[in-house]
Amino acid sequence: MQKLQGKTALITGGNSGIGLATAKLFLESGARVAITGRDQQALDEATKALGHDVLALRSDAASVTEIEALMSQINRAWGRLDVLFVNAAIAGPLPFEMVTESHFDTVMSVNLKGAFFAVQKALPLLAPGASVILTTSIANQIGAPNFSVYAASKAALRSLTQTLALELVGKGVRVNAVSPGPIATPIWGKFGLPADVALAAQQEVANKSPSKRFGQPEEVAKAALFLACEDSSYMVGQEVVVDGGMSLL
Ligand SMILES: NC(=O)c1ccc[n+]([C@@H]2O[C@H](COP(=O)([O-])OP(=O)(O)OC[C@H]3O[C@@H](n4cnc5c(N)ncnc54)[C@H](OP(=O)(O)O)[C@@H]3O)[C@@H](O)[C@H]2O)c1
Repeated sequence: MQKLQGKTALITGGNSGIGLATAKLFLESGARVAITGRDQQALDEATKALGHDVLALRSDAASVTEIEALMSQINRAWGRLDVLFVNAAIAGPLPFEMVTESHFDTVMSVNLKGAFFAVQKALPLLAPGASVILTTSIANQIGAPNFSVYAASKAALRSLTQTLALELVGKGVRVNAVSPGPIATPIWGKFGLPADVALAAQQEVANKSPSKRFGQPEEVAKAALFLACEDSSYMVGQEVVVDGGMSLL
């Protein structure tokens, strides 16, 4: 029997990187999978790459109205949800003194508000035994220069994981988090840096890592699968760190 046989799973930010690798693994593990993102072309390409009957739904994580519409679509398609992987986020690095109110609001709206309301609006669909997984980041436990808003948003998600875990465990819903370190995904190309500067920054991060390399999205997906399925049945409110040892430095 496959680990997610007969289960339904929604992955926000599932058209790229960690979300896409997790969608692939969840499908291979027997689940029916829905993915979201804003970029229709990336959704189409993801659907092609997954090669299964995946539900690709365009939805902006920063909009509560769109989150409600998304959950209605899931309800119409499946009537319930067994796994919710709240993974969509933007990093938006900026030196502290350059952060504007608008930049702050944009990052927080996707990363924190979006995650908060994704869980709230999914709640009526979450079946007993359901698993909610939030993607945090090791930026929430180490100093992360130039990532002040992002790191704060992920620290808030760590707190949310613990609080929701206790609020929802009585309903039979487990809430946990997966906390990636540096993972080789398209997010590193979205920092607005010239290609050579971005590459040098990544090389510096890899050299600093105890494992001397970036992690692969598939390595995070395996942790997400563990939290999604019965293998983690007694895990409640925990954060699984997948970082090659980076946060120990
Ligand atoms: N890669 C790393 O080194 C690393 C480290 C720590 C934590 N993380 C976390 O891992 C998660 C996945 O990131 P990734 O590395 O896989 O990056 P990625 O490849 O850039 O994926 C980010 C995903 O989020 C979606 N997204 C962003 N804003 C959205 C919005 N407003 N509405 C809906 N979807 C939105 C993107 O889709 P669209 O662009 O189509 O909207 C995309 O699918 C994030 O939570 C990130 O913070 C990553």
